Amino acid sequence: MSNQIELDIRELKPGFGAEVTNVDIATADAETRAELVKTFQLHGALLLRNQKLSPDELVAYLSLFGEPEGHTLQEYTLPGHPEIYILSNREENGKPIGAHNDGVGWHTDYSYKKKPVQNTMLYAVEVPPSGSDTIIADCCAAYNALSEERKEQLDGLILHHSYKHFMETREFGRMTLSEELQAENPDVFHPLIRTHPADGRKALWVSTGTVTEVVGMSNPEGLKLIDELVEFVTQDQFTYQHKWQVGDVITWDNRCTLHTGTVFDDKKHFRLMHRLWAKGNVPY
Ligand code: SIN
Repeated sequence: MSNQIELDIRELKPGFGAEVTNVDIATADAETRAELVKTFQLHGALLLRNQKLSPDELVAYLSLFGEPEGHTLQEYTLPGHPEIYILSNREENGKPIGAHNDGVGWHTDYSYKKKPVQNTMLYAVEVPPSGSDTIIADCCAAYNALSEERKEQLDGLILHHSYKHFMETREFGRMTLSEELQAENPDVFHPLIRTHPADGRKALWVSTGTVTEVVGMSNPEGLKLIDELVEFVTQDQFTYQHKWQVGDVITWDNRCTLHTGTVFDDKKHFRLMHRLWAKGNVPY
């Protein structure tokens, strides 16, 4: 017998994101799960609190949205669960068990790949009492707020993304790429204005970290334009700041958002999150 329920939905901020307050993912039936996917498609981000999910249940939940994407670096995947990447400042036997501060800096995940991931999912296993919020920016609202003249100027611009540049210049976890990683992650080019495949809505899909230039513009002017647009997209009016509780699961749509992690007092407290990705399309 179906136990489908009508979803209780609360917007995370007016016009963006949804918290569903009456679903337990582990026991929800297929119809309820399908409703969650629809809610995600419409709202750009989906939050469920108080979830208790085993790694298998988490992968099953992510798989509702798309096929799980692998991780560029394997070092911190959960043993036995290559689809789950650990974000943490905890150590075991003197070794980190996860990547720490991996997502600090405004970005959209996997932007250095030909097919960036469709959605990112974070599951909070352990959170500090303050700090470590994740902030998500609604790039469609930002696009819609541009003047028609500005939209025309920006439409058609292409950004050059480089994993090598990102890993060699980022603030946390900087590293020189092996030849193998370089060969696996060649530079890619993506549109600045991205169209959402579900309904054609447009997003001001700028990013930091992986972007090296605006094609056809010399630097520093090109990078100045990027900085200016990131500042625009990440204004309070377009962002939602999530304060984590253990048991929260959020998934956001990378096709129409930017996000950043934030720091916390990592000498006193611990954070442990499970991160998963679902495969995406070639941006257009
Ligand atoms: C990420 O950028 O993938 C993670 C963000 C966070 O840890 O809050």
